[in-house]
Amino acid sequence: MGLKSKDLLGMKQLTAEEIMEILDTAKTMKLVIASANKKTSHLQGKSVVTLFYENSTRTRLSFELASKYMGSASANISTSGSSVNKGESLLDTARTIDMMGTDIIIMRHNQSGAPHFIAPYLKASVVNAGDGMNEHPTQALLDMLTMYERFDTFEGKNIAICGDIYHSRVVRSNAIGLSKLGAKVSVYGPKTMMPIGIENMGVRIADSVADCIKDADAVMGLRVQLERQQKSLFPSIAEYAKFYAITPEMLALAKPDAFLMHPGPCNHGVELPTAVYDCDQSVINEQVTNGVAVRMAVLYLLMARRNQL
Ligand code: CP
Repeated sequence: MGLKSKDLLGMKQLTAEEIMEILDTAKTMKLVIASANKKTSHLQGKSVVTLFYENSTRTRLSFELASKYMGSASANISTSGSSVNKGESLLDTARTIDMMGTDIIIMRHNQSGAPHFIAPYLKASVVNAGDGMNEHPTQALLDMLTMYERFDTFEGKNIAICGDIYHSRVVRSNAIGLSKLGAKVSVYGPKTMMPIGIENMGVRIADSVADCIKDADAVMGLRVQLERQQKSLFPSIAEYAKFYAITPEMLALAKPDAFLMHPGPCNHGVELPTAVYDCDQSVINEQVTNGVAVRMAVLYLLMARRNQL
Protein backbone atom coordinates (compact mmCIF):
# COMPACT_ATOMS: atom_id res chain seq x y z
CA MET A 1 0.00 0.00 0.00
CA GLY A 2 1.16 3.56 -0.70
CA LEU A 3 2.76 5.25 -3.66
CA LYS A 4 6.05 4.05 -5.17
CA SER A 5 7.68 7.47 -5.14
CA LYS A 6 8.33 9.87 -2.24
CA ASP A 7 6.67 12.64 -4.30
CA LEU A 8 3.59 13.13 -6.49
CA LEU A 9 4.92 15.19 -9.40
CA GLY A 10 2.62 14.20 -12.27
CA MET A 11 0.38 11.57 -13.83
CA LYS A 12 3.42 10.63 -15.94
CA GLN A 13 5.05 9.13 -12.85
CA LEU A 14 1.99 7.10 -11.70
CA THR A 15 1.14 3.57 -12.86
CA ALA A 16 -2.44 2.54 -13.67
CA GLU A 17 -2.46 0.53 -10.41
CA GLU A 18 -1.37 3.56 -8.37
CA ILE A 19 -4.08 5.73 -10.00
CA MET A 20 -6.73 3.13 -9.12
CA GLU A 21 -5.40 2.89 -5.55
CA ILE A 22 -5.75 6.67 -5.16
CA LEU A 23 -9.30 6.60 -6.57
CA ASP A 24 -10.38 3.69 -4.34
CA THR A 25 -8.85 5.38 -1.27
CA ALA A 26 -10.62 8.64 -2.19
CA LYS A 27 -13.96 6.81 -2.23
CA THR A 28 -13.32 5.81 1.40
CA MET A 29 -12.27 9.37 2.26
CA LYS A 30 -15.64 10.60 0.96
CA LEU A 31 -17.25 8.67 3.83
CA VAL A 32 -15.09 10.65 6.29
CA ILE A 33 -16.08 13.95 4.66
CA ALA A 34 -19.77 12.96 4.84
CA SER A 35 -19.55 11.92 8.52
CA ALA A 36 -20.60 14.19 11.39
CA ASN A 37 -17.08 14.26 12.85
CA LYS A 38 -14.90 14.70 9.69
CA LYS A 39 -11.78 13.53 11.56
CA THR A 40 -9.16 10.82 11.11
CA SER A 41 -5.80 10.53 12.86
CA HIS A 42 -3.78 9.40 9.81
CA LEU A 43 -1.64 12.56 9.81
CA GLN A 44 -1.53 13.13 13.56
CA GLY A 45 1.93 14.39 14.56
CA LYS A 46 2.74 15.23 10.90
CA SER A 47 3.02 18.60 9.19
CA VAL A 48 1.80 19.77 5.78
CA VAL A 49 2.70 23.12 4.19
CA THR A 50 1.09 24.65 1.09
CA LEU A 51 3.52 26.84 -0.90
CA PHE A 52 1.64 28.73 -3.62
CA TYR A 53 3.33 31.04 -6.14
CA GLU A 54 0.06 31.38 -8.09
CA ASN A 55 -3.51 32.15 -7.09
CA SER A 56 -5.88 29.32 -6.15
CA THR A 57 -9.19 28.78 -4.42
CA ARG A 58 -10.06 25.09 -4.92
CA THR A 59 -6.68 23.37 -4.85
CA ARG A 60 -5.22 25.26 -1.92
CA LEU A 61 -8.32 25.19 0.27
CA SER A 62 -9.03 21.52 -0.43
CA PHE A 63 -5.46 20.53 0.50
CA GLU A 64 -5.73 22.61 3.68
CA LEU A 65 -9.05 21.05 4.66
CA ALA A 66 -7.82 17.56 3.70
CA SER A 67 -4.76 17.86 5.95
CA LYS A 68 -6.83 19.29 8.83
CA TYR A 69 -9.49 16.53 8.53
CA MET A 70 -6.61 14.04 8.87
CA GLY A 71 -5.21 15.65 12.01
CA SER A 72 -1.97 17.23 10.75
CA ALA A 73 -0.42 20.53 11.70
CA SER A 74 -0.80 22.64 8.58
CA ALA A 75 0.49 26.03 7.44
CA ASN A 76 0.34 28.14 4.28
CA ILE A 77 2.86 30.32 2.57
CA SER A 78 2.43 32.37 -0.58
CA THR A 79 4.51 34.92 -2.45
CA SER A 80 2.83 37.90 -0.86
CA GLY A 81 3.89 38.30 2.77
CA SER A 82 6.84 35.88 2.51
CA SER A 83 10.59 36.34 1.85
CA VAL A 84 9.95 35.32 -1.78
CA ASN A 85 9.08 39.00 -2.22
CA LYS A 86 12.58 39.90 -0.92
CA GLY A 87 14.06 37.82 -3.73
CA GLU A 88 14.64 34.49 -1.92
CA SER A 89 15.14 31.69 -4.43
CA LEU A 90 12.72 28.80 -4.90
CA LEU A 91 15.26 26.27 -3.63
CA ASP A 92 16.16 28.31 -0.54
CA THR A 93 12.46 28.79 0.22
CA ALA A 94 11.73 25.06 -0.16
CA ARG A 95 14.78 24.06 1.93
CA THR A 96 13.73 26.48 4.68
CA ILE A 97 10.30 24.85 4.87
CA ASP A 98 11.92 21.39 4.75
CA MET A 99 14.31 22.15 7.63
CA MET A 100 11.39 23.03 9.90
CA GLY A 101 10.46 19.33 9.91
CA THR A 102 7.72 19.51 7.29
CA ASP A 103 6.54 16.12 6.03
CA ILE A 104 4.69 17.18 2.88
CA ILE A 105 5.08 20.36 0.79
CA ILE A 106 2.26 21.08 -1.66
CA MET A 107 3.48 23.51 -4.30
CA ARG A 108 1.90 25.50 -7.13
CA HIS A 109 4.31 27.40 -9.38
CA ASN A 110 4.08 29.28 -12.66
CA GLN A 111 7.15 27.51 -14.08
CA SER A 112 6.77 24.04 -15.59
CA GLY A 113 9.05 21.60 -13.77
CA ALA A 114 9.45 23.66 -10.58
CA PRO A 115 8.31 20.81 -8.23
CA HIS A 116 10.50 18.30 -10.13
CA PHE A 117 13.46 20.66 -9.56
CA ILE A 118 13.10 20.98 -5.77
CA ALA A 119 11.97 17.43 -4.89
CA PRO A 120 15.40 15.69 -5.01
CA TYR A 121 16.86 18.27 -2.59
CA LEU A 122 14.23 17.75 0.13
CA LYS A 123 13.44 15.18 2.82
CA ALA A 124 9.80 16.26 2.60
CA SER A 125 7.47 14.77 0.00
CA VAL A 126 6.55 17.25 -2.75
CA VAL A 127 3.06 17.33 -4.30
CA ASN A 128 2.60 19.19 -7.58
CA ALA A 129 -0.48 21.42 -7.21
CA GLY A 130 -0.02 22.78 -10.76
CA ASP A 131 3.26 23.71 -12.50
CA GLY A 132 3.02 26.20 -15.35
CA MET A 133 1.55 24.58 -18.46
CA ASN A 134 2.86 21.12 -17.55
CA GLU A 135 0.68 19.11 -15.14
CA HIS A 136 -1.98 19.37 -12.43
CA PRO A 137 -2.15 15.75 -11.27
CA THR A 138 -4.55 16.08 -8.34
CA GLN A 139 -7.05 17.92 -10.60
CA ALA A 140 -6.94 15.01 -13.06
CA LEU A 141 -7.34 12.55 -10.19
CA LEU A 142 -10.45 14.35 -8.89
CA ASP A 143 -11.83 14.49 -12.44
CA MET A 144 -11.19 10.76 -12.76
CA LEU A 145 -12.87 10.08 -9.39
CA THR A 146 -15.95 11.94 -10.64
CA MET A 147 -15.95 9.70 -13.75
CA TYR A 148 -15.18 6.53 -11.72
CA GLU A 149 -18.32 7.09 -9.63
CA ARG A 150 -20.34 6.80 -12.88
CA PHE A 151 -18.33 4.32 -14.98
CA ASP A 152 -17.90 0.62 -14.28
CA THR A 153 -14.61 0.83 -16.21
CA PHE A 154 -12.55 3.53 -17.98
CA GLU A 155 -11.72 1.09 -20.82
CA GLY A 156 -13.08 2.40 -24.13
CA LYS A 157 -14.89 5.41 -22.62
CA ASN A 158 -14.94 8.55 -24.83
CA ILE A 159 -13.85 11.72 -23.05
CA ALA A 160 -14.22 15.05 -24.89
CA ILE A 161 -12.15 18.04 -23.74
CA CYS A 162 -12.81 21.45 -25.38
CA GLY A 163 -11.25 24.86 -24.84
CA ASP A 164 -7.82 26.41 -24.28
CA ILE A 165 -5.80 23.23 -24.75
CA TYR A 166 -2.48 25.06 -25.17
CA HIS A 167 -2.25 26.58 -21.69
CA SER A 168 -3.97 23.74 -19.84
CA ARG A 169 -2.02 21.61 -17.37
CA VAL A 170 -5.39 19.96 -16.60
CA VAL A 171 -5.71 18.55 -20.12
CA ARG A 172 -2.16 17.18 -20.06
CA SER A 173 -2.67 15.37 -16.74
CA ASN A 174 -6.08 14.04 -17.81
CA ALA A 175 -4.78 12.87 -21.20
CA ILE A 176 -1.90 10.98 -19.59
CA GLY A 177 -3.98 9.49 -16.74
CA LEU A 178 -7.07 8.57 -18.76
CA SER A 179 -4.97 6.95 -21.51
CA LYS A 180 -3.24 4.79 -18.89
CA LEU A 181 -6.68 3.49 -17.83
CA GLY A 182 -7.80 2.76 -21.41
CA ALA A 183 -10.12 5.74 -22.04
CA LYS A 184 -10.15 7.53 -25.42
CA VAL A 185 -9.56 11.29 -25.16
CA SER A 186 -10.56 13.76 -27.91
CA VAL A 187 -9.56 17.44 -27.73
CA TYR A 188 -10.70 20.53 -29.59
CA GLY A 189 -9.94 24.25 -29.45
CA PRO A 190 -8.75 27.07 -31.71
CA LYS A 191 -5.78 25.94 -33.85
CA THR A 192 -3.74 28.74 -32.23
CA MET A 193 -4.40 27.09 -28.84
CA MET A 194 -3.43 23.54 -29.84
CA PRO A 195 0.05 22.53 -28.64
CA ILE A 196 2.34 20.90 -31.19
CA GLY A 197 2.70 17.19 -30.42
CA ILE A 198 -0.42 16.86 -28.22
CA GLU A 199 -1.34 13.74 -30.24
CA ASN A 200 1.79 12.09 -28.80
CA MET A 201 -0.05 12.03 -25.45
CA GLY A 202 -2.49 9.54 -26.96
CA VAL A 203 -5.29 12.02 -27.73
CA ARG A 204 -7.31 12.53 -30.94
CA ILE A 205 -7.51 16.11 -32.27
CA ALA A 206 -11.15 16.67 -33.31
CA ASP A 207 -12.26 18.84 -36.26
CA SER A 208 -14.93 20.83 -34.42
CA VAL A 209 -16.73 21.07 -31.05
CA ALA A 210 -19.45 18.82 -32.52
CA ASP A 211 -16.91 16.22 -33.72
CA CYS A 212 -15.21 16.27 -30.29
CA ILE A 213 -18.41 15.84 -28.27
CA LYS A 214 -20.37 13.42 -30.51
CA ASP A 215 -21.03 10.16 -28.58
CA ALA A 216 -18.86 11.25 -25.64
CA ASP A 217 -19.40 9.62 -22.25
CA ALA A 218 -18.05 12.70 -20.46
CA VAL A 219 -17.52 16.28 -21.67
CA MET A 220 -15.04 18.71 -20.09
CA GLY A 221 -14.79 22.44 -20.76
CA LEU A 222 -11.54 24.28 -20.11
CA ARG A 223 -11.03 27.88 -19.04
CA VAL A 224 -9.54 30.36 -21.49
CA GLN A 225 -6.40 31.33 -19.54
CA LEU A 226 -6.13 34.98 -20.49
CA GLU A 227 -3.49 35.56 -17.78
CA ARG A 228 -1.01 33.26 -19.62
CA GLN A 229 -1.44 34.89 -23.06
CA GLN A 230 1.26 37.35 -24.18
CA LYS A 231 -0.89 38.26 -27.18
CA SER A 232 -4.45 37.42 -28.12
CA LEU A 233 -4.74 33.95 -29.70
CA PHE A 234 -8.28 34.49 -31.02
CA PRO A 235 -10.05 37.54 -32.50
CA SER A 236 -12.53 38.32 -29.70
CA ILE A 237 -14.37 36.80 -26.73
CA ALA A 238 -17.63 36.99 -28.72
CA GLU A 239 -16.15 34.96 -31.59
CA TYR A 240 -14.60 32.45 -29.18
CA ALA A 241 -18.01 31.93 -27.54
CA LYS A 242 -19.67 31.55 -30.96
CA PHE A 243 -17.25 28.98 -32.42
CA TYR A 244 -15.73 27.15 -29.45
CA ALA A 245 -18.21 27.21 -26.51
CA ILE A 246 -20.01 24.09 -25.27
CA THR A 247 -23.61 25.16 -25.90
CA PRO A 248 -26.72 23.09 -24.99
CA GLU A 249 -26.93 22.05 -28.69
CA MET A 250 -23.34 20.76 -28.60
CA LEU A 251 -23.83 18.95 -25.27
CA ALA A 252 -26.89 17.21 -26.75
CA LEU A 253 -24.53 15.41 -29.20
CA ALA A 254 -22.94 13.45 -26.33
CA LYS A 255 -24.42 10.15 -25.12
CA PRO A 256 -27.76 10.59 -23.31
CA ASP A 257 -26.24 9.79 -19.90
CA ALA A 258 -23.09 11.88 -20.47
CA PHE A 259 -22.11 14.45 -17.86
CA LEU A 260 -20.42 17.84 -18.02
CA MET A 261 -17.25 18.78 -16.13
CA HIS A 262 -15.10 21.90 -15.74
CA PRO A 263 -12.05 22.23 -13.45
CA GLY A 264 -12.96 25.80 -12.51
CA PRO A 265 -12.74 28.69 -12.26
CA CYS A 266 -15.10 29.23 -15.23
CA ASN A 267 -15.43 32.24 -17.54
CA HIS A 268 -19.23 32.21 -17.80
CA GLY A 269 -20.39 32.97 -21.32
CA VAL A 270 -16.97 32.20 -22.85
CA GLU A 271 -16.17 28.47 -22.71
CA LEU A 272 -19.66 27.65 -21.36
CA PRO A 273 -22.91 29.58 -21.10
CA THR A 274 -24.22 29.73 -17.50
CA ALA A 275 -27.18 27.57 -18.58
CA VAL A 276 -24.74 24.73 -19.36
CA TYR A 277 -22.66 25.31 -16.20
CA ASP A 278 -25.86 24.89 -14.14
CA CYS A 279 -27.61 22.22 -16.27
CA ASP A 280 -28.79 18.83 -14.92
CA GLN A 281 -25.82 17.09 -16.58
CA SER A 282 -23.30 19.33 -14.82
CA VAL A 283 -21.18 17.68 -12.10
CA ILE A 284 -18.95 20.72 -11.54
CA ASN A 285 -19.95 21.10 -7.88
CA GLU A 286 -19.34 17.38 -7.27
CA GLN A 287 -15.82 17.81 -8.69
CA VAL A 288 -15.17 20.35 -5.91
CA THR A 289 -16.24 17.87 -3.20
CA ASN A 290 -14.17 15.12 -4.84
CA GLY A 291 -11.16 17.43 -4.73
CA VAL A 292 -11.04 17.19 -0.93
CA ALA A 293 -11.42 13.38 -1.00
CA VAL A 294 -8.69 12.89 -3.63
CA ARG A 295 -6.28 15.15 -1.76
CA MET A 296 -6.95 13.24 1.49
CA ALA A 297 -6.16 10.02 -0.41
CA VAL A 298 -2.93 11.46 -1.85
CA LEU A 299 -1.76 12.68 1.58
CA TYR A 300 -2.65 9.31 3.14
CA LEU A 301 -0.82 7.24 0.50
CA LEU A 302 2.25 9.50 0.50
CA MET A 303 2.43 9.24 4.28
CA ALA A 304 2.12 5.43 4.00
CA ARG A 305 5.14 5.53 1.65
CA ARG A 306 7.08 7.75 4.06
CA ASN A 307 6.31 5.41 6.97
CA GLN A 308 7.69 2.47 4.92
CA LEU A 309 10.87 4.45 4.20
N1 CP B 1 -9.02 23.89 -10.73
C1 CP B 1 -8.14 24.62 -10.03
O1 CP B 1 -6.95 24.33 -9.98
O2 CP B 1 -8.72 25.68 -9.37
P1 CP B 1 -7.92 26.73 -8.45
O3 CP B 1 -7.03 27.52 -9.35
O4 CP B 1 -9.02 27.56 -7.81
O5 CP B 1 -7.14 25.93 -7.45
